[in-house]
Amino acid sequence: MKVLGVLGSPRVGGNSDILLDEALAGAKDGGAQVEKIILAQRKISGCLDCDQCDETGVCAIKDDMTEIYEKILESDAIIHSVPVYFWSMTSQMKAYLDRWCAFFDANWRWHKHIYPRMREKGIAVITVCGDPDVHTADPVVSSFKNTAKFAKLRWIGAVQASAAAKGEIERDQRAKRSSYELGRKAAQKESMEP
Ligand SMILES: Cc1cc2nc3c(=O)[nH]c(=O)nc-3n(C[C@H](O)[C@H](O)[C@H](O)COP(=O)(O)O)c2cc1C
Repeated sequence: MKVLGVLGSPRVGGNSDILLDEALAGAKDGGAQVEKIILAQRKISGCLDCDQCDETGVCAIKDDMTEIYEKILESDAIIHSVPVYFWSMTSQMKAYLDRWCAFFDANWRWHKHIYPRMREKGIAVITVCGDPDVHTADPVVSSFKNTAKFAKLRWIGAVQASAAAKGEIERDQRAKRSSYELGRKAAQKESMEP
């Protein structure tokens, strides 16, 4: 069992990074092998909608997504962690998510060679927003939840937290605990939420 953590904040050691580490600790304690990718430290361009991947399932852009695609395919579950930027996700996370396009054909079906490696894969998201109302991140959660539903991935769940200053989330025991539990759940293959 491999659990991949994907950090969408450029603030390494910040709030979503802290919660992602909690989740990965939970996954590790649940018996999974874990790995973290910090998107801001990689070069990831936006999708060009060039249609080349429709035929091949291979993205025409040659950047760090080439390696990340393989890590996605190898993992059993992916936990994303991202702060809210202007009522949406960060540009780093959005570029990464848009590049998932290469997994699908022109009819938005999994490419045949991709499907066996994506089937049953778990997907989860952790959000942090400066607003005290954690529901500010609902559109971000919807993006991931709808992606999971559309692609028939295994939805593990979401943790939504609030913090503004770097590292402030350290004081939020509930968010840390929930993230840890999310990670433990990601390490169980049968975990499923409607
Ligand atoms: C460019 C930018 C835009 C932001 N937009 C929002 C926003 O729309 N709503 C919100 O609640 N917080 C917003 N925030 C605050 C961050 O979500 C908050 O500081 C969060 O804790 C950052 O997480 P991090 O430490 O993981 O980077 C914004 C922060 C930045 C830098």
